[in-house]
Amino acid sequence: MRIGSAVQYDRYGDFDVVELVPQERPEAGPGEIVVEIVAAGLNHIERFLREGKLRDHIELEFPARQGVDFAGIVRARGDGVKDLRIGDEVMGHAPTGGSHATWLVVPRGAVIKKPEHVGWEVAGGLYLAGCTAVSVVRGLKLGPEDTVVITAAAGGVGHIECQLAHDAGATVIALGSPRNHDYLRQIGTLPVAYGDGEEDRIRAIADGRPITAFIDNHGESNAELLAERLGVPAGRFVSSEDRRDIEIRFLRAPAEDEETRELLTLLAKAVQDRRVQVLISGFYPFEYIVEAYEDLAEMKSRGKVVIGMQTVEKGARLDWYRSEKARDLRDRYAEERGTDTETMAGGTASPAP
Ligand SMILES: NC(=O)c1ccc[n+]([C@@H]2O[C@H](COP(=O)([O-])OP(=O)(O)OC[C@H]3O[C@@H](n4cnc5c(N)ncnc54)[C@H](OP(=O)(O)O)[C@@H]3O)[C@@H](O)[C@H]2O)c1
Repeated sequence: MRIGSAVQYDRYGDFDVVELVPQERPEAGPGEIVVEIVAAGLNHIERFLREGKLRDHIELEFPARQGVDFAGIVRARGDGVKDLRIGDEVMGHAPTGGSHATWLVVPRGAVIKKPEHVGWEVAGGLYLAGCTAVSVVRGLKLGPEDTVVITAAAGGVGHIECQLAHDAGATVIALGSPRNHDYLRQIGTLPVAYGDGEEDRIRAIADGRPITAFIDNHGESNAELLAERLGVPAGRFVSSEDRRDIEIRFLRAPAEDEETRELLTLLAKAVQDRRVQVLISGFYPFEYIVEAYEDLAEMKSRGKVVIGMQTVEKGARLDWYRSEKARDLRDRYAEERGTDTETMAGGTASPAP
């Protein structure tokens, strides 16, 4: 029986409270399945939860487990689970957390089958960002007559919202750093840099079209005022707080929640059909969970940050180090620890949390 590990923390706090604890393969109770996790997404809101910033909404019991998104393989099923087999590939959400682990027990209703042509890392990072994006875009009932402004447009949630809004026929004005503008054009949006003068730039690119909706992912202090000045009708401004409330609902959605399953199924199909292309900004080995969260916290992601749980051989890890981001990380550790970067690239000085 494979021994694994799980992310755990026993008090509210920063990255330093996070531990990787050993985990034995659990048993499936009636109506449950045991999933061996292959990939799992990271979300800001889980960081806020761990830091105690959501205590008015969700009170944690300690020790707490982390992670809501996941994709993996069914390894056991409890009594009453008839429509999934051992070995089936699934994706879904952990209603009480715990997907940042080797093993996860969830009620059958918390998963859908992973479409064959959706990659593990995309499936593993789709749930929370994807359901939030669909819920926001659907709520606005966007159509070809709409012009919508989306902030943090290249981020984990924003890049899915942009594609869904574009797919609905809307004109999408995407706020993001100039380094993301080529990408934002590729997904059919009109990119605009945020900061001083953004209102004029939005008007200029709108070219006389009325701005009919505004989605503020980032939580800019002037976003609501900006939307008002742009003439966005009342009720068509989605604030960062609205988005947070949607995320909180999905974070703890019960397994039997029909809407959640419907949204995830719809999204998985959109990804399979390539109507939505999910970008992976960083794909980290599981033992680099803290570094993966640090990466997310920098808020420079273009797409999702995801962790992979399967054992990585030394050779594979060398490949991983070839990415620019990973090289920076390796060099930073080497500097901090005074170690030889080649030793680390060989995997013998792994900076486990
Ligand atoms: N209200 C809440 O409770 C709540 C919950 C979750 C997330 N959020 C916030 O929503 C934003 C997007 O979330 P996400 O899950 O999609 O995270 P994400 O993937 O980390 O978002 C990264 C994106 O945020 C953008 N960004 C960073 N600083 C910005 C600024 N000053 N103004 C505008 N955009 C900025 C970046 O754009 P560029 O790289 O193009 O600069 C980057 O593409 C984040 O800022 C996050 O903190 C709020």
